[in-house]
Parts: sequence; structure tokens; C-alpha cells
Amino acid sequence: MTPDIAWLADSRTFAVNRLPAVSDHVARPAGDGSLRQSLDGAWAFALAEDVASRPQGFEARGFDASGWATIEVPGYMQLQGFGPNQYVNTQYPWDGIEHLRPPEVPEANLVGSYIRDFTFAGKKSRVILTFDGVETAFFVWLNGTFVGYAEDSFTPSRFDVTDLIEEGDNRLAVQVFQRSSASWIEDQDFWRLTGISRSVWLENQPALHLDDLFVTTDLNDDFSSASLRLRLKLSLPGEGGKVEVALSGSDGLVLEPWQCEASAEMDLAFDVAGPELWSAEAPNLYDLSLTLIGADGEDSETVTERIGFRRFEMIDKVMHLNGKRIIFNGVNRHDFDARRGRAVTYEQMLWDVKFFKQNNINAVRTCHYPNQTVFYRLCDEYGIYLIDEANLESHGSWQKDGKVEPSWVVPGDREDWQDCVTDRARSMLERDKNHPSILIWSCGNESFGGKVIYEMSQFFRDRDPSRLVHYEGVFHDRRYDDTSDMESRMYAKPADVETYLNDNPQKPFILCEYMHAMGNSCGGMHLYTDLVDQYRLYQGGFIWDYIDQAMDDGDGRLRLGGDFSDRPSDYEFCADGIVTARREPSPKVQEVKALYQSFDIAPSAAEVIIRNKNLFVSTAGLSLAVTLLKDGAVVFETVMTPEIAAGETATLPLALPEAAEPGEYAVQCALKLDEATLWAEAGHEVAFGEHMFTVEGEKPAPAPVALTTSRGDINFGVRSPDMFALFSEPFGGPVSLKKGGLEFLARPPRLTFWRAMTDNDRGRQHGFEHAVWQTAHLYYKRGPVVIADGDEPVIRYRFTLPGITVEPEVTYRVGRDGRIHVTADFPGAEGLPELPIFGLQFFMDAAFDRFRYYGLGPDENYRDRLRGARLGIFERTVAENLSPYVVPQECGNRVGTRFAEVTDGEGRGLRFEAEGAPFEFNALPHGTMELETATRPWELPPVTRTVVTIAAKQMGVGGDDSWGAPVHPQYRVASHRPLSLAFSFAPVGV
Ligand code: GAL
Repeated sequence: MTPDIAWLADSRTFAVNRLPAVSDHVARPAGDGSLRQSLDGAWAFALAEDVASRPQGFEARGFDASGWATIEVPGYMQLQGFGPNQYVNTQYPWDGIEHLRPPEVPEANLVGSYIRDFTFAGKKSRVILTFDGVETAFFVWLNGTFVGYAEDSFTPSRFDVTDLIEEGDNRLAVQVFQRSSASWIEDQDFWRLTGISRSVWLENQPALHLDDLFVTTDLNDDFSSASLRLRLKLSLPGEGGKVEVALSGSDGLVLEPWQCEASAEMDLAFDVAGPELWSAEAPNLYDLSLTLIGADGEDSETVTERIGFRRFEMIDKVMHLNGKRIIFNGVNRHDFDARRGRAVTYEQMLWDVKFFKQNNINAVRTCHYPNQTVFYRLCDEYGIYLIDEANLESHGSWQKDGKVEPSWVVPGDREDWQDCVTDRARSMLERDKNHPSILIWSCGNESFGGKVIYEMSQFFRDRDPSRLVHYEGVFHDRRYDDTSDMESRMYAKPADVETYLNDNPQKPFILCEYMHAMGNSCGGMHLYTDLVDQYRLYQGGFIWDYIDQAMDDGDGRLRLGGDFSDRPSDYEFCADGIVTARREPSPKVQEVKALYQSFDIAPSAAEVIIRNKNLFVSTAGLSLAVTLLKDGAVVFETVMTPEIAAGETATLPLALPEAAEPGEYAVQCALKLDEATLWAEAGHEVAFGEHMFTVEGEKPAPAPVALTTSRGDINFGVRSPDMFALFSEPFGGPVSLKKGGLEFLARPPRLTFWRAMTDNDRGRQHGFEHAVWQTAHLYYKRGPVVIADGDEPVIRYRFTLPGITVEPEVTYRVGRDGRIHVTADFPGAEGLPELPIFGLQFFMDAAFDRFRYYGLGPDENYRDRLRGARLGIFERTVAENLSPYVVPQECGNRVGTRFAEVTDGEGRGLRFEAEGAPFEFNALPHGTMELETATRPWELPPVTRTVVTIAAKQMGVGGDDSWGAPVHPQYRVASHRPLSLAFSFAPVGV
């Protein structure tokens, strides 16, 4: 056959000579060794800008490629210096550059030509060449002869090269095209990368070979026994052979080796009594071993598959695993790494899976394409539920700048797209069907509704009734609502979710995407997770998303869309992860881990109530560490061993010492691993709960100091035996605070009404509504100053705000306790937008570069992101407090602060103490407007000072989405009511 470049633009031609998809089992030869030969590594490479200028004839055996570059396979062209990189979200990458309609292919179409010379020896019976993933379309030649053509970037393409491969030297030539008709259905929100991005390998198959395996485990109704069904497809030599089946579990053989005659298609069933069931909580796996034995009695090959017994089904409109209502505490996961793009390594996948387990994430949606096989194996072994998503997204064909406009949607009802779409479903299902971790097949993402996707869903149901089918897109086109077995939405607000659940729902509900984790986000997440206990049909959600898709070009800087002169681009929208593109957990993880924990732990002073929310596992292997803190310091610790079965709640008495001394107490209870597991060290905390109480009483007062004052024309000085404070009239506050020869105030404190906008703030155009507060923050003026000299002198400043009639006041009283007592009052006024923040900012020399505080932590937290924070005394450097958001923004806040000390390396600095209500504290190396204007961290100016914020209140960060969702009302800061802040400050450590 002669290859035809016209296939690129033909939606009906998506595979030429490609073999049918098969299961991802690994066959091994008898004895040692492997049937597989990897072709990964360095390949010769040449880039062409477009189809017309691509090399032709390069596939010939004698072609001289000595002048060619080299490229690493697997990997991406753009990430190895070949061709421009581009990030777009929903729009097509050529939008506005070339006017196209499906299935047309743009002129600008990078072509990568690849050559790999290799030696091959010892041909058995059949040799199969497999490409695990090539983006987005490619032609293959072996030794100068055309082998085949394939599309679908994320499932394997297999070709039979038995007749073309030679003993000795061989030459494989591949031409990869950036764009094809498939590009219309690969419009995922990701970097548009090109290349041989997954492994390439040969399999040298014996005549008697297991081509395909389909394992199902049909459990009886009380789960006491199962029928293990094995459907096999074999290649058979004329003389036939035998198949031997055995099954072993952790305690040894479960099925004795059993033999039968081999045939091309086999359907076997075995009774297994009392199987240990698979779940994410207890990922019990069995080794299924299949040995193929030739007519001569010699083993031909063996296959060992790790299989799990489990039953997933819909019972009374609720999804059940092994008879229990399942909850997905999920994330969406793109294959991603800052340097490698989607060509992630085994180590990176392993890191991801361990991270999920450590942070109570029990489910992953493989957004928006099938992942590498090894990822599914890890999920089987570690215990992660999967929605396996087909490689289908045609977002730009029906949604234009957020508006639904499906006049030329693909695939819609278009018959010419049916086969390629169903093929994607088949390629995924056939490869992945034996993984117990996969509970749900997903038809893809955001491709509108219609007949084609409905047929795809029916393919899943027909071929694999043991799983359910997911598709969110019917939300926009209800004609084929049965495409999805569950109601799946993205970014529905908590109230919208409740509306569905209260309106006679006919399907269970999941959020396939929620909590848009872009920048400083994930506020209000508990408003979703709280629904789990309120509605039986609410079965959880998948955070958008796991990892920032930011690119590190090699200079250590994380770049986003648009930073490569890529246009059009959707800029920052690629960075929405709870971990950075370098796999550093962001502070958002603290909240996710807490809200996804499997135990509710509610201590009081006398007892602790623990609810085990697991479906299958008890508290065995966990101990309860009980700690009593007084004013942040540990005063008592003990360890208990609760025994609480899955689904049960127990009340355990706590024998804590009596809290007699006045002070603030916290009872903290943490369930921790007794022993190391596959995914965490011994002692790892899996769940936490705390209770606070106060024992009232008088605190001993320090001996009063004598104060002297000095009234100048414009300054007012107050001196104690070892401290001096100077208050300025024109500069609106204290301009100096000195002790031990050190100056603690670089500039006088200023009121703050503005926080550096977060990604969510920008997305909802918060600035447009709230700009008066930015103006107030920047340009307020000092009004009258009143100085009352006396035993404890008081200096009262009044301020006027541009365009706003209310006049806040800040009062400083120098106390005989050696501290300066501050109140800042905002009187409240009608007709103003809500306040982003109200507080006072202090500016200290950059040498005061660390802090220690007693409040909620250890990580950054906000009023709507507090469930994961706990009371304690925590330390950080000011530099560390600048959270690793790719776009600088508000970060580092700590709610509930009782005291905070901002000091230098010798412990000298200022100590701030709350008077009455705790404050919100922050210390950052940059000012509000510096953070607001920088678009990348390296645009921030050199660090010259430490900016300390002591705030009465800051609004929450929100996170329902990043394109308009408001912060929930209970976490906003009303401006019509008075706000007041009271604290004191004084030097410490001198
Ligand atoms: C969804 C989409 C995701 C992502 C998200 C915004 O519509 O499925 O892939 O683009 O919006 O970050």
C-alpha cells in the first residue's frame, strides 16, 4: 500500500494497517529474558515547518541521515528545541490565523521525521511493533517499506512487522504530524505538543501467544465467592498447545494449576471461594498466571496479571463498590512535568500515586485521555479509583468564549466521525480492561452531546457491563442524556448541586471537575464535601486539578501560556494545580487532605468521638496520638489504640490532666500509621481533629515602667528606660521604635484596604467592583491628629479616604507595660463594595526575615480555607511564606493569630499580640502592589523589607471557579458594619 498524505485530513481514515487493540498484559518467554525490545532512546530527527517542506524518501534504507539532529524518544519535539510551543485552553490553536472547519488541517503543521537504526535477532513467529503514544498522527516505514498510519495520541498503535523485519540491521522511519483531522477532537486544555511521547517497542511473539485477555470477577451477592471469568484470544500454531491457569494470593495458591487444550478463543470460569476484595482502602491483588505450553510440552510463554476481585454497580441510583456507597475524593490528573511535558517518567507517576495516598485522595480522573499503562498498575497496587477518560475533546467546536454555539460541532451527530470516536473508546477499553482500579469509563471531555458520543457510550456498556459510563457533556445537550450513567457536572456551585439533588434526581451526582485550584484557591471546598453526609446521591468530586502545567525551559523559571510568544494563548489558565509543575505541594493541599480524610475526629475535654468513614477497613494499624496544648505548648501526650470497624462511630474517654492554670488549651487527636506502608512512613498522620477551650483567670501584669514624653512641633516622643517611640503628625503614625540600638520601623505603619488580587479575584473582575479600596489603600490621607499626654500617652490619627466619606482611626497608646497598644477602627458605611481586607501594615528592614506565631497553621490559610489548619506555634522564613504560585498574588495569610514575632536570625524583632479577638497575620518580602503588578515571580523587585500585615479580617479566597464565582457571602467582609482591630506590639529579643 502507498501512504497518502490526504489521510491527514480525512476523519474516516484514522488507522491504516493498525492491529486491533488488546489488553496490556505482559507475556514473558519461558525461562529468563523478555519478548520485548525497547526502541526508546536517541533517534535521528529532522524538523519541517509544514507538510510541503517535509523530507520525502527519508524512509529509504540508504538515506543519509548523518546531518540530522537527535531527539530523545519518548519525548516532545517542542521541548527539545524543535518547533514553537503553544498553550490554548478551549479555542483551537489556529483560531484567527487560518479559517478552518472540520476535518480541514492547518497549513502550519510541524512535521517531525524520525529514524531509528536497530538490530534484531532470533525471530520467533510474529513481530509486533507498538507505539504507546504519538501526538497527533504518524506514518511508519520499516526498512523502506510502508507499515501503517495511525491517529489517537494516547493509546497504543500496533503493527505487524513480521514480514518486514530482518535479522541484523533494520531501519525504522516515522513521520509525525502536529495536526490532522484528529486535532479537532484533541482540543484538550493543555500544551499543544508533538512527538513520539511514549515508548516504542517490539514484541517477538512465539507461535503460541496470548493476544488478549479479559478478566472479570463476578461476585455473588454476599461477596463470599466469585466466578473468575477469563476470556482469552490466542495465536495458535497448527499443532495446538495447552493453557495452564493458576491463581495465588498473599497466602499462597488459591487455584491449583489447571490445564486445558488451547484454542483461538477461550472462555473459562473458575470458582474462587472467599476472595479478599479489592478497594482503594484495601487494594488486595491476586496473581493470575497463565502459561502457554506448546505441543512439544515446552512452555511457550507465561503471563502474570495482578487482578482484583470487586463489584461496582448502581443500586437504587447510587454507585456501590462491593455493596457499599462509594465517595470519590478525587482529583483530575494530567500527565505532566515541567521539563518533560506529558512524557512523564515512572518515578513521577509513582510520586503522584504516593502523594494521592498520603493526602487522602482516593480517586483520579485521567483528564482528558488515557494515561500510560504503568499508571493504572500503580493505581491497582496502591489503591486509587479511576475514571478512565477517552481521548476526545472538541471544546472549540461548540463553546466559544464560554458561550454554547454548536453550529459546526464535532462529533455531534456526524456519521463521518463515528468510527474514529468509537475507535478511541475501543482502544482505551481493550488496553485497560483488566485494571481493578478503573471503575468508570469516560467518553471524553467537553465535546457537547449528540449521537456519536451516545454510540460510544453504548460501546462501553456492551463490551464491559462491569463498569459504569461517565460523560459530562450531555449537560449542554440533553438529547442523548442516557450517554452518562451519572449526572456529572463541572463547577456547579454548592447551591446548584443541592438544587439537582432536591429535585427528584434520577441519577447519582458527581462533580467531574470542581474547586478550580488556580493560584491561591480552594476556599469553600467544605461546602462541597459537607454534601456527602446530606445527600445519598452526592458521590463526590474531582478537584481541577492536580498539577500545574507550567514549563521550565531549563533556566529554572516556570513559564505559562503566552510566555513563548505563543498566540493565541490562554495564558495563566494552564496552572490550576494543587502541586506545582515541579511537584512541590502548594498550601492548598493542607485543606484537601483534611476534607478528604476518612475519619471524623471530634475531641472535647473529656472524650473523643471518632467516626470511621471507610467502607471496608477498620482502625487496625492506626494509633491515636492525643496531645494537650496550653497556649500552644505541649503539656501532655498519650497514645491510644482505638478499634473502630468500617462505618462505625466510637466515643473514647480521654484521661487528660486537669486544665487548672488559666490559658488557652487545645486537645488535638491524630490517627497515625503504626508501620510504614507502600506510600508513607510509620507515624504518617491520616486524620486529625481538635477542640479548644479557655480557662479564664488573671494574667500576672509586668511591673510598670516609667514613661517620659517630649512634644516637638511635629513629632511626639515617648521614652521608657530602654525603649523610645517617636510619633509623627505628618507621616500619620510612629516613625521610629528603638530598643538596644535597633530600629524596628522602616516606615510608619499604614492602613490596608486591598490585597494583591488572586487569580480567582482577577477571574471574577473583582477589581472592577472593588477598585475604591485599592485607591483607598494607595492614596488615603491623614486627617487630624490628637495627642493626649499623660500616664500612658495616646496618639490618635484619623484618616480620610478618596471618594469615601467614612474616616477610619488608628490609636496608639504607649503602655506602662512597655508595649504600644493599637486599635484600628473602620466605622462602616453604606453603599460601598465589600472590603478585601482591613488592617495595618508594618514595614521592617529585610533583616527581620523570619517569623514565629501562635495561630492557625502550619500552612497558609484563609477564612474559607481553614478546615485543614490547626492551632499551634509555627515558624517560617518570610521568603518561604511567599507561596509558590506561578503568578504572584496574595498568599501567606494566617488566620486566628494570637501572637506573632517577626525577627532577625538572633531573635530580635517585633512581637505583635492580639488584644481580644485574634488577628489575621502575614509577613512577606513584598508589598501588596508589588505582588499585584508582577505577572511572574522574577518580575518582583529585589527584596528590601519585610511587610507585616495585622488584619482584622480578610475575605476568603474562593475557588468554585476562577472565571466569575464569588467568594461565598459568609467569607466576605461587609463594609457597612464597623470593623475593629486591637493588638499591641513591642520589641522582642533585645
Ligand atoms: C474545564 C476543562 C478543563 C479546564 C478547566 C479550566 O472546562 O474541562 O480541562 O480547562 O475547565 O481550567
